[in-house]
Amino acid sequence: MTSSASFFSLLLLSSLLFDSHLSLTSAQATPPLLAGLSYEFHSTNCPSLETTIRDYLREILSSDTGVAAGLLRVHFHDCFVQGCDGSVLLAGSASGPGQGEQQAPPNLTLRARAFVIIEELRNRIHRACGAIVSCSDIAALSARDAVFLSGGPDYRVPLGRRDGLSFATVNATLANLPFFGSRVPQLITDFAAKNLDVNDLVALSGGHTIGRGNCGSFVGRLYPTRDPTLETTFADNLTRVCPTNTSSGVTPLDVRTPNNFDNQYYVDLLNRQGLFTSDQDLFTDNTTAPIVTSFANNQTLFFERFAFSMIKMGMINVTTGTQGEIRTNCSARNAASTTYLTTDVDQQGKNAGILRLFDNVVEGLFGYI
Ligand code: HEM
Ligand SMILES: *[C@@H]1O[C@H](CO)[C@@H](O)[C@H](O)[C@H]1NC(C)=O
Ligand SMILES: *[C@@H]1O[C@H](CO)[C@@H](O)[C@H](O)[C@H]1NC(C)=O
Ligand SMILES: *[C@@H]1O[C@H](CO)[C@@H](O)[C@H](O)[C@H]1NC(C)=O
Ligand SMILES: *[C@@H]1O[C@H](CO)[C@@H](O)[C@H](O)[C@H]1NC(C)=O
Ligand SMILES: *[C@@H]1O[C@H](CO)[C@@H](O)[C@H](O)[C@H]1NC(C)=O
Ligand SMILES: *[C@@H]1O[C@H](CO)[C@@H](O)[C@H](O)[C@H]1NC(C)=O
Ligand SMILES: *[C@@H]1O[C@H](CO)[C@@H](O)[C@H](O)[C@H]1NC(C)=O
Repeated sequence: MTSSASFFSLLLLSSLLFDSHLSLTSAQATPPLLAGLSYEFHSTNCPSLETTIRDYLREILSSDTGVAAGLLRVHFHDCFVQGCDGSVLLAGSASGPGQGEQQAPPNLTLRARAFVIIEELRNRIHRACGAIVSCSDIAALSARDAVFLSGGPDYRVPLGRRDGLSFATVNATLANLPFFGSRVPQLITDFAAKNLDVNDLVALSGGHTIGRGNCGSFVGRLYPTRDPTLETTFADNLTRVCPTNTSSGVTPLDVRTPNNFDNQYYVDLLNRQGLFTSDQDLFTDNTTAPIVTSFANNQTLFFERFAFSMIKMGMINVTTGTQGEIRTNCSARNAASTTYLTTDVDQQGKNAGILRLFDNVVEGLFGYI
C-alpha cells in the first residue's frame, strides 16, 4: 500500500470513528414509542401515580440505599424475560418473590425487598386510583426513580403496560438473561435479540454503577487461574472477599462509588476494575471500547444515553390494550371474579373497589373463554 493510500485509510478510519461518535451525541433524546404506550397514559386517571412512587422510594432509600439496585435489576429481568409484563414479579418465576436460595439459580437472585416495595406501591396506587395501573408500569417507574434518587438522570417513562398471565420458567429465564461470563460478541447477540444495539448494551451495562455481586458471579476470574485482565490491587481485594471458589461473599459492582448512580463504572473499566467478564470485556473489545471511553469522559453523555436505552428496554414485548391484565396482587394472577368478591383486598377506596370488581369480572370472563 502506498503511503498516500494508508493516509487515506487513516482519514477514513478517523472519519468513521468521528461519525459514530457524532451519531451517539446527536441521536434523538427519546426513542419512538410503541403503539399502546404513552407518557400521558395515567396523567388524568391517576395523577398522583408518579409522586406516590417517588416520595415512597425517597423514604425507603434514605435508610436502605441498596434497594435502588434491587429495583433497577427487577425491571431489567422483567423486560429481558418475556417482555416487560411484570412476569418476574409472579410467585413461581425463576427469580421471583418467595423463591428461596434452593430453587432460584443463585446468580439470578433478586433482592426480596424490591418485590415487597413494588407490591406496597401497588397497594398505595390502587387505593388512590383504583386497579388501573399495572405492576409492570410500577416496576418501570420504580427503576427510573431508583436511578434518579441514587444521583442518576431523570427521564419520563412511557406507560400503559399490562401484566402478563404466566410466569417465566427457570429455562426461559436462563435462556433470556445475558450471562456474566459472556464476552462482547455474545452480548451483542443477546441484546440484538431484544432489539437493543451496541450503544444500548454499553449504556445499560452502566446499571452496574450501583449494587453488588456474589462471589459465584466472578470467582471464575480468580480460580483456578487469575484472569490477567484484572488489575492487581482489585484482584487481591476480590480474593480476600472470595478466598475460595465456593466462598459466599459479596462486593460492590462499582468499586469507586458503590451507591451513586454516576459514570464511575466506566472509569473502573478503564482501570481494569470491572467485576464481571461481561463488564470488563466492554473495554477489551474494540467495538465497544470507544463508547466506554466516551462515557468515562462525559457523564452527561452517559446519562442521556442511559435514559434513552432504558426507555427502549422498557418497551420490549410489552402487553398493551386488552392483552394481559392489571394485577391486584403483583405476585399473583388475578383470580376469577367470585374469589375476589369474597376476598379482603384493599378495603379502602370505594371507587377503587368498584373498578377492581369490574376489572375482575372482565378478567374472570376472559379467563374462562
Ligand atoms: C449486560 C448484561 C448483564 C449481565 C451479564 C448482568 C449480570 C449481573 C450479575 C451476574 C449480577 C450480580 C448477581 C449476583 O451475583 O448476585 C448483576 C447485578 C446487577 N445488575 Fe446486571 N447484568 C447485565 C445487565 C444489566 C442491566 C441492563 C441492568 C439495568 C439497567 C443491570 C442492573 C444490575 C444491578 C442494579 C445489579 C445489582 C443488584 C443488587 O445489588 O441487588 N444489569 N448483574
Ligand atoms: C430445561 O433445560 C434443561 C437443560 O437445558 C433440560 O434438560 C430440560 O428438559 C428443560 N426443561 C424444560 C421444561 O424445558
Ligand atoms: C417478542 O416475543 C416474541 C414471541 O414470544 C419473540 O419471538 C420475539 O423475539 C420477542 N421480541 C423481543 C424483542 O424480545
Ligand atoms: C482494595 O481494598 C482497599 C482496602 O479495603 C481499599 O482501600 C482499596 O480502595 C481497594 N482497591 C480496589 C481497586 O479494589
Ligand atoms: C473449586 O476448586 C476445586 C479445586 O480446584 C475443584 O475441584 C472444584 O471443581 C471447583 N469448584 C467449582 C464450583 O468451580
Ligand atoms: C480490534 O481487535 C482485534 C483483536 O482484538 C484486532 O485484530 C483488530 O485489529 C482491532 N481493530 C482495530 C480497528 O483496532
Ligand atoms: C458531553 O456530552 C454532552 C451530551 O451529549 C454534550 O452536550 C457535551 O458537549 C459533551 N461534553 C464534552 C466536553 O464533550
Ligand atoms: C399475593 O400473592 C401471593 C402469591 O400467591 C400470596 O402469597 C399473597 O398472600 C398475596 N397477597 C394478598 C394480599 O393476597
